Amino acid sequence: MGAHPKHVNHQLGPMKCPVDLQSVDLFGAGAQEHWYEMYEILHRDAPVLRIPGGGLRPDTDAFVLTKHADIATVVKDPERFIVMGQRRVGEWADEGLSAERAYEVSRNLMTASMVSLRPTQELYIKHRKELTDPWVGTGAPRHREMITKVANDLLDEWIDDGAVEFITRFARPLPQRVFATILGFPFEDIPRLAEWGNAIVVPFIHGTGLKHEISPEQAKDMFARLEGFQDYIYEHVRAKRREPQDDMVSFLCDVHYEALDRKLTDLEIAGIVHAMIIGALETTQYALEEQAQLLCEQPDVFQLLRRDRSKLKAFTEEAMRLRSPTHGLSTRMTSRDEVFQGVTVPAGSLLHLRFAAANVDGDEFECPFDLDLERDGLTRHLAFSAGPRVCPGANLSRIEQQVAWGVLLDRLDTIEYDEGNDWLHQPGIMLGTLKLKLRFVKSTEPLSLGVGRSSSH
Ligand code: HEM
Repeated sequence: MGAHPKHVNHQLGPMKCPVDLQSVDLFGAGAQEHWYEMYEILHRDAPVLRIPGGGLRPDTDAFVLTKHADIATVVKDPERFIVMGQRRVGEWADEGLSAERAYEVSRNLMTASMVSLRPTQELYIKHRKELTDPWVGTGAPRHREMITKVANDLLDEWIDDGAVEFITRFARPLPQRVFATILGFPFEDIPRLAEWGNAIVVPFIHGTGLKHEISPEQAKDMFARLEGFQDYIYEHVRAKRREPQDDMVSFLCDVHYEALDRKLTDLEIAGIVHAMIIGALETTQYALEEQAQLLCEQPDVFQLLRRDRSKLKAFTEEAMRLRSPTHGLSTRMTSRDEVFQGVTVPAGSLLHLRFAAANVDGDEFECPFDLDLERDGLTRHLAFSAGPRVCPGANLSRIEQQVAWGVLLDRLDTIEYDEGNDWLHQPGIMLGTLKLKLRFVKSTEPLSLGVGRSSSH
């Protein structure tokens, strides 16, 4: 089962295919079209790539790590490798935006949950266990039925058409509706929430270089687009304090945070919602759209999964390994001198972790470009990172993906690419095609092998 990376869009992108280390530019315009060729070159010639002057200060360097063993070591040891989540807030402050609304919003939202609720590793773990796990971690399975209904409702909108633009009609709205339901926000607010979500992730899409830098103008524009977001959350917090519902925001309003022996403030709740929105929306969308592409490229796997749902988990894990939604993040710094693959990395260096490269590292995965449903240790991949800071929403996303495909496999006999795809990817650090047109044959006798269909169907 060969699942080789896509080469189809090479001729359209602005970057030429890299042939050697000199031509590898992970962050250049159009790099997304060639990332996987670059990873092969980096694994062979520079598994630890030094970016001179790329550190947090001009006199320090950054290093791109691409080997599974190295990245796993880093993410599993937050004492040795400092987590950099709040760097940007400080930077904006230094750049003079602090006096303006920008800093107020960023300080308020980005740091509320981090600074007051989880400044230490110990509190970080408690924050996760007490505040987010019950909804998007260990508690995520309780959303299964709701997610099944969301998936079926979306499918109902286009199942008789024979063709669909899969991203706008399924991969994007599914996590949006699921997340609005979990938080307790009405569906009609999704366009506004999506616009705020788009503004929040501007650095990850339009930022340049490994530090995802945006210009002061872009920062101002981003904060202008965020106007109203905090007030929106406050309004809901106030309403849910008065009249609690069965949703995450109501829970956060009421919960006694044992770690600090007190309830959460409105600002802290807004901070948690903010962090969740950054993490939750587009990532799962990208996973679903890449999975659809793998199934178009390997129709035998689509048919195998239709017959045998016990392989569904293996498929979604392998798909996230092969086409990781978050390709890399520059979120760690060395606290002391380190050596990776024989390369000395001084204390105070910025580390860019290329999760997607680690996931196709031949030293970790045999035949790394094969979609292998029988692979041992399927969850060894680092698409969600690993260790104590592993993505807190991984469980929810896994369930969303498995339920979504369970429903699609139940109700569609085949899927294939339709005319009109150009295969171009959006810029930034995530792997996402801009559109995905599919043709399909609707099942005349829908199966019910999936993870449960909603009672309305
Ligand atoms: C396929 C879907 C997803 C992927 C690939 C993904 C990937 C990641 C990765 C790589 C990290 C960085 C971890 C680290 O620094 O070690 C992360 C962090 C995070 N993710 Fe996800 N994620 C996904 C879905 C979600 C969902 C559904 C949620 C929320 C429900 C979520 C919420 C978060 C949050 C809040 C963080 C920051 C954690 C922190 O403070 O360190 N993610 N995710």
